[in-house]
Amino acid sequence: MKKLFKILGILLIIVVLFAAGGYIYLQAAYPKVSAAPELKIEPTHERLERGKYLANSYAFCIECHSSKDITKFSMPVVPGTEGKGGDNYGEGAGFVPASNITGDKETGLGNWTDGEIFRAITSGVDKEGKFLAPMMPYPLFAKMDKEDLYSIIAYIKTLKPISNKVPEKNLKFPVNLIFRTIPSDVSSFGKRPDGTDKIKLGEYNGVACKFCHSPSDKGEYIPGKEFSGGVEFPMPDGTIIRSSNITPDKETGIGNMTRELFMAKFKSCIDDSALDPKSRGFNTPMAWNFIAKSSTDDDLLAIYEYLMSQNPVNNKVEKITLKGLK
Ligand code: HEC
Ligand code: HEC
Repeated sequence: MKKLFKILGILLIIVVLFAAGGYIYLQAAYPKVSAAPELKIEPTHERLERGKYLANSYAFCIECHSSKDITKFSMPVVPGTEGKGGDNYGEGAGFVPASNITGDKETGLGNWTDGEIFRAITSGVDKEGKFLAPMMPYPLFAKMDKEDLYSIIAYIKTLKPISNKVPEKNLKFPVNLIFRTIPSDVSSFGKRPDGTDKIKLGEYNGVACKFCHSPSDKGEYIPGKEFSGGVEFPMPDGTIIRSSNITPDKETGIGNMTRELFMAKFKSCIDDSALDPKSRGFNTPMAWNFIAKSSTDDDLLAIYEYLMSQNPVNNKVEKITLKGLK
């Protein structure tokens, strides 16, 4: 018996040593990302327009990096807070506030080079090379066209500088270790579709839709379940909202939703007076207002075509669990 305990004790020590060694290794070896590229982005008129469009619509930069009015349906951005950051995106992983991405020199990106901003958005490390949590969806942005990314950078540099010191993130174990292994150099970027193929255009613009509407396991979408919904979003009042099934399944998805109805659902959320959550019976993280007021009809319709081209997945989603009922 004594001997057994001794063996177990030794085994335990070995396990602890391995764990400690692994911890030190991960801390020292990651993130593995190259130096920021030398880059000087000319803020041409075309780039500023395109960057403004993307950052305020399908790239969602301004949606995450601003204050939100939680008293209104679909929580629109509070005017005048664009880029100031501070909202927490950590959910189960800890506390991960969105950074201040305005040009403020002390608390924002005022002292970052274009190359450093580009590297942050696509490879997932900050100015000093420290890892960013993937709540900042840099793996998705790494699939965009470089020229679109340059446009976004040119535009965010024109945001009004706001002094707002965002606190440090605080991640739980083991995600604090896992997240530092995700940043990586990007070997090839995406290509912006020319718009003749609507489905391709919808796919390119719809990455964030996929992000919220697809169940995932350990950071990977579950194959065959893309767009089938059910992803949980805790609301500020404790209610849980789940993303809808937006595959063309007729019974549980949007297979019976005409393009007119799809457009109308978005358009009905443009006007401020239509954003009373009480009249709608719930509030939602779905960016109805954000997308509706910025997107062109062409781009939104392309997303509809793209969604309709997906495989229908039968998955009935319970939209709301009220606070206290689980
Ligand atoms: C889903 C929400 C979300 C979206 C969309 C998003 N971000 Fe972020 N971003 C974050 C969070 C959260 C952080 C902080 C991550 C951390 O501290 O590890 C962050 C960090 C950053 C940083 C690093 C700043 C620093 O001081 O370290 C930059 C730069 C940035 N985002 C720019 C952008 C741009 C540009 C876009 C659009 C192309 C964008 N973000 C879209 C949530 C988001
Ligand atoms: C931040 C996460 C998030 C993002 C990003 C997002 N959605 Fe949603 N979406 C939701 C949630 C949660 C719901 C369910 C609550 C509601 O209806 O507002 C929803 C509902 C919907 C519905 C309603 C379906 C029905 O049967 O009524 C449609 C359509 C939809 N989303 C399409 C989209 C499209 C298209 C995009 C990309 C432009 C998108 N969503 C991006 C979270 C998101």
